[in-house]
Order: sequence, then C-alpha cells, then structure tokens
Amino acid sequence: ERAAPLDIRRRPLRDLRISVTDRCNFRCTYCMPREVFNSSYQFMPHGALLSLEEIARVAGIAASLGVQKIRLTGGEPLLRKNIEGLIEMLARLRTPDGQALQIALTTNGTLLAQKAQALKDAGLQRVTVSLDALDDRLFESMSDSQVSVSRVLKGIDEAARVGLAPVKVNMVVRKGMNDQQILPMARHFRHSGHILRFIEFMDVGSTNGWNMEQVLTGREILDRITAEFPLEPVQADYRGEVASRWRYVDNGGEIGIITSVSQPFCGDCTRARLSPEGKLFLCLFATQGHDLRGLIRDGASDDDIAARLAGVWSVRDDHYSELRGQHTADQPKIEMSYIGG
Ligand code: GTP
Ligand code: 5AD
Ligand code: SF4
Ligand code: SF4
Repeated sequence: ERAAPLDIRRRPLRDLRISVTDRCNFRCTYCMPREVFNSSYQFMPHGALLSLEEIARVAGIAASLGVQKIRLTGGEPLLRKNIEGLIEMLARLRTPDGQALQIALTTNGTLLAQKAQALKDAGLQRVTVSLDALDDRLFESMSDSQVSVSRVLKGIDEAARVGLAPVKVNMVVRKGMNDQQILPMARHFRHSGHILRFIEFMDVGSTNGWNMEQVLTGREILDRITAEFPLEPVQADYRGEVASRWRYVDNGGEIGIITSVSQPFCGDCTRARLSPEGKLFLCLFATQGHDLRGLIRDGASDDDIAARLAGVWSVRDDHYSELRGQHTADQPKIEMSYIGG
C-alpha cells in the first residue's frame, strides 16, 4: 500500500499520458513543421526509448500511487512496434482497490482501420482521432501529408464498429486556417455516434508560431454552431474533464469544447506525462522533465521509483494555462510531437 500524493495545489495524480514515440507520418504545421522535422532532424534512437516492459512497469507503479487512466500518445502511437503488446500489459494492471485501469489512445487515424480490431482485442477501451478538416485539400495542407480524409474517416468508423466507442474526434481550430470547417465538421458528425471536440489553438512547443490572433475562443465556436443547431450543456463526466460537454437539443448527439486558452482548467489538472525516453513532465508546458529511465536502468526497485514519482508530484506547482500570454508564447517548452498533447 502506497500513499497517493497530492501536489502543492492539492491535486491528486490520476492520469498518465504516455508518449510512446516521437515520430509521426504527418507534419501538421502547428506541431511538426517540415522546415524543422525534415530528413536532417534527429529522432530518438531506438535504444533511448523506454521498452514496452519499462513503460508498463512505470504505469504499474503510477497505478499504485492513484493513477486510474492511461492515455497512449506520440507522435503517432500506432507507429510504435507492438503497441498491442503494451496494451495487453497495461490491461493487466490494477489500482490499489483492484480496478482495471482505463486505457485510451490518441491517434491521427491513418493506421486505425487496419489496427482497430487488434487494439480492441489487446484491451484498449477508447480512441480519440485527430481530424482538423473534412476538405481534402485543406486537410492535406494542414497535415502536410498525402493522406485522404476518407482514410481517417474509415479508421474512425472501424474503431467504433469494433467497440472502441464512443470515438472522440479532435479538431484543433486555428482561426483563418480551418475555422470555416467548424460547421461542416459539426454537420458531418451529428447523428454519427462519435463525439466531435473543438480545441482552442494552443502555444505548445516552440515551433508552432502561436499568437492570440489565431485563437478562436470556445465561446465563438459555440456561437457559430448554436446559430445552426441549438445546444444545451451536459454535466462533466468526471472531475477535471478537459472538455466541456454540449448536446444537440434535437438528439443529434454530443460535442465537446476544449478551452485551454480562454478558460484554463489547471485547477483540476491531475495529469502527468511520460516522454518516449522516460522523462516525467508535470505539465504540457513544462521545460524540464524528471528522468526515470536512469533510475530504472540503474536497477532501482519499484519502491525507489514510486518514491521518486511521489516526490516530484508532491512539489508540483504547475498551472501554465492560467499564466499564459503573448509574453509566455516564446518561452522554451517541450514539443507537442514529443509529449503528445
Ligand atoms: P478524455 O477526456 O479521456 O477523452 O481525454 P483528453 O481530452 O484528456 O485527451 P486528448 O488527447 O483528446 O486531448 C484533447 C486536447 O486537450 C489536446 O489538444 C490536448 O493537448 C489538450 N489537453 C489535454 N490535457 C491537457 C492539459 O492537461 N493541459 C492543457 N493545456 N491541454 C490539455
Ligand atoms: N493546440 C491545440 N491542440 C493541439 N494538438 C496538437 N497541437 C495542438 C495545439 N497547438 C492536438 C492534436 C491532438 C491532441 C492530442 O492535441 O491535434 O488531437
Ligand atoms: Fe502527428 Fe498529431 Fe503532431 Fe499532427 S498533431 S504531426 S498527427 S503528432
Ligand atoms: Fe495541467 Fe499544465 Fe495543462 Fe494546466 S497547463 S491543465 S497544469 S498540463
């Protein structure tokens, strides 16, 4: 039995977001701009990555400290070899009161149609798919890829078909870029059973050229949708849920709005992030991680690793989104492609 730590702001550790690779087959302009992430960019060498066993071990220790939910991210997590094997290991973990962990994954959807069944069989419960536009030309230019929208849509439908449902669809809204797609996306996903979520464009990493002019606020997004389809609010699913939930009054289903810029949710932030090479980050906007790989590879015991995790969590004070402004946009931060959002 280990004591579950609280941080300085009295927030427990409940969610572990695990980035399993820094690679991606897309080059979204706001995440991995091709000028930076090109053939001369040094991705992490394989030996630097935590092995799947090492990841599962950290996750198990985190579960003993109160973590209830694991989300696999990247880069693109479906590019990691034998991700199904990792999910099987994670599915065997238990919280101190004997519950299985919730296991979810955030993907760009390109490999999802072919992998959905294997992921489900391994014990994955839910997927979230990133999709910023329905228009092929705009999608290709935003993701800087040749992948068609229909391929991602097939991935979404196949995931739902095998029971990874409800599928959530994440649309990052960048004003002047894809905000004209808000209504087409809303129309497309109404009555589909999938949950479309609109995300305010954030200043993650130091290569995405963020400024406030490119942020369409959650309020403005809602106003545009409500003008065509009336919405009513829905109770949060759990304390600290990132998205606020809305439902079409005509029973067209549910949407979410993620307002990290206009209405930060740091007060309830229970998330830690594990990087591909085993650094623990206590905030999406942190500049420094806490190395766990060194400890693991030096032969530390589970108790040693638990003590380290609890120690860094208990002095955590992060609340970046409450401090954000143009003056913080240029601070050095970890890249989204490395820490997975
Ligand atoms: P569920 O509620 O389980 O569906 O997952 P989620 O919404 O936490 O995960 P997802 O990966 O879909 O993240 C949605 C968006 O919210 C992404 O753009 C994330 O970068 C952003 N996000 C998630 N967690 C945080 C956070 O702690 N802080 C900030 N600022 N943004 C976050
Ligand atoms: N602002 C908001 N969301 C972002 N994502 C990537 N970069 C940003 C950004 N700058 C989203 C991805 C994915 C999720 C994990 O984070 O599109 O859906
Ligand atoms: Fe890849 Fe997701 Fe980053 Fe796009 S946002 S480059 S899909 S990791
Ligand atoms: Fe949590 Fe940092 Fe995001 Fe605030 S900005 S919600 S502290 S990850």
